[in-house]
Amino acid sequence: PVKKRTFSGVQPTGNIHLGNYLGAIRNWVEGQAQYENIFCIVDLHAITLPIDARELHENTRKLAALYLAVGLDLEHCKLFVQSHVQEHAELSWILNCFTPMGWLNRMTQFKTKAADDPDSVSNGLYSYPVLMASDILLYHAHYVPVGDDQRQHVELTRDIAQRFNSLYKQPVFTLPQAQIRDVAARIMSLSEPTKKMSKSDPDPQSRINLLDDPKVIKKKIGRAQTDSERLVKFDPQRPGITSLLGIYQAITGKEQAVIEAEFEGKGYGDFKATLTEQLVATLEPIQKRYYEYINDMGELENILKQGADAVRPSAQETVRNVKTVVGL
Ligand code: ADP
Ligand code: NA
Repeated sequence: PVKKRTFSGVQPTGNIHLGNYLGAIRNWVEGQAQYENIFCIVDLHAITLPIDARELHENTRKLAALYLAVGLDLEHCKLFVQSHVQEHAELSWILNCFTPMGWLNRMTQFKTKAADDPDSVSNGLYSYPVLMASDILLYHAHYVPVGDDQRQHVELTRDIAQRFNSLYKQPVFTLPQAQIRDVAARIMSLSEPTKKMSKSDPDPQSRINLLDDPKVIKKKIGRAQTDSERLVKFDPQRPGITSLLGIYQAITGKEQAVIEAEFEGKGYGDFKATLTEQLVATLEPIQKRYYEYINDMGELENILKQGADAVRPSAQETVRNVKTVVGL
């Protein structure tokens, strides 16, 4: 049988953190043999907020090395940089012209990032979800494995596809589905557990990066905000401890009840020590492989070029078809 297609991406805007890994990238690795996968480094998304040019270029290579280090296998996955395939920008313009502004006005991520001051942010940030829709629709992806914060953007992608298809009375685009796991779909900030962990949070203590060394991990987990109840239990009313437990659950694969039994009668200190140990053990092999990949820049560039060359024909075919349908 023909495999279903999967598309997803991460922005090269900073250090990749546990939220990116457990909410998204790790699930790509787990599902990779089942699907035909396209994983992108979305650098065009990264410029929707100000970013230093050299940093962007370096982050893009670092993210590619991490994709490989966590276990994405080139037998199953095509890995490439968004800006290397110009059809992303081209389809994005066309779909911008088919997306009502009212739909974009309702996107909560834009509202959060714009912080009530539309003069402080670009039109690119506003149109971000349309570029994301273009990424997904270009390849007729069936599934989009993402963290919970992207649920609304995948819904919008479906709405745009549906609107376009019904306007032209033909199935030009495939309607994609978000793939969001129950465990670790929203890892919270370690400093302020009511916010999600994010690359763009100015507080470096708020996240654990995949490349943090054991000492740093221990310190950050030690300082992570919890509460005064001192009960190691999953409880949506207590997002701090619950998010830490979600991390533990994701990396150990244990059931919630098993975890709560494991820490019954114990305090946050014991739990945090065990969590730190498990985290260090999980990240060590990833870090080791990361440094091997990042130290072979020629090979990395080669992989990215091959990835772009491999996906380009299907992107071109989609754009050609869309232009014909629209009359361009
Ligand atoms: P960030 O928001 O940290 O800048 P991206 O926007 O590049 O990260 O998102 C990359 C992927 O990581 C997306 O699938 C997103 O849903 C997921 N993700 C980001 N933050 C978290 C989080 N705190 N918990 C779970 N998943 C997350
Ligand atoms: Na995000």
